[in-house]
Amino acid sequence: MAKLALLTSGGDAPGMNSAIRAVVRTALAKGIEVIGIRHGFSGLLAGDSIHMNSRSVANIMHLGGTILHTSRCLEFKTKEGRAPAVAFLDKAKVDFLVIIGGNGTLQGSAALSEETETKIVQIPSTIDNDVYGTDFTIGFDTAVNTALDAIDRIRDTAFSLDRLFFVEVMGREAGFIALEAGIAGGAVEVLIPEIIENMDQLSRSIQDAFKRGKKACITVVAEGDRPGGAFEVAKEVKALTGLDSRVCILGHTQRGGSPTARDRVLAIKLGVAAIETLLQGENAVVIGEVCGQIVRTPLKEAREKKKQLDHFLVELLKLVSG
Ligand code: F6P
Repeated sequence: MAKLALLTSGGDAPGMNSAIRAVVRTALAKGIEVIGIRHGFSGLLAGDSIHMNSRSVANIMHLGGTILHTSRCLEFKTKEGRAPAVAFLDKAKVDFLVIIGGNGTLQGSAALSEETETKIVQIPSTIDNDVYGTDFTIGFDTAVNTALDAIDRIRDTAFSLDRLFFVEVMGREAGFIALEAGIAGGAVEVLIPEIIENMDQLSRSIQDAFKRGKKACITVVAEGDRPGGAFEVAKEVKALTGLDSRVCILGHTQRGGSPTARDRVLAIKLGVAAIETLLQGENAVVIGEVCGQIVRTPLKEAREKKKQLDHFLVELLKLVSG
């Protein structure tokens, strides 16, 4: 009987549980034994595993977070640090390893795949959406909708007091959440790490928006846009324009909550495809969905390439911000 290990790694993301459920149940249906590794790569180093059956994943689809727990594991960055994981996979005779995680995790998955006989696939899951090889990562849609819900609420108070708001959303090195939540939330401007802003231009755009009669002026800032994030932007705009503003940092609220239908369906598609890929003998790939099709990208390629955001969306935002 083949044996599969499964873990979640890095920042948790809504929909990870749906992916766990899909992987476990598809593997069991194919006659594969399944063990869950707790606490991500740290658990893999420590051999912290549990046996999983169909009931282990019952009633979890609607839950945020990950029932397997996760970790940010510094030891995993070096070959020596990863050695106990290689030894565990060998000793426990693990044929397949499914890793559910984001861009940081990809570094570890790619490195580990070169050091072990165990076949590895990664299912991309992070709220940041910054994994190459898939249009969307599991958790992104939920995070955008959580941010949007907050922006809509902020709009009520901004409108009532004719106020300028800077809303900071997550995205350490990527502006995907900021761009989508900003467009959907009717932001005047979106500040993202992929684009270097001119603060004079930004200040003029905000002043013009008020001159045109805007009652609520919302700018969405990706946390990775600059050191100091939205507070720094507010300070600089105040210095240039004299305009008072309020800052709201959405932070970890975006990581929690029940996954949207889109995230659950994506998680199920990718979870099933992960098992099929392994059974077809493929190894060391990220399973993604591009234009509605399942796509397999080598881990090494996904690690090296940076996912580009859609600059057309930036143009759209400018066109319709009014
Ligand atoms: O998982 C991605 C992410 O939420 C980023 O958007 C954010 O910068 C980071 O994780 C925060 O990580 P932590 O919860 O470890 O502080």
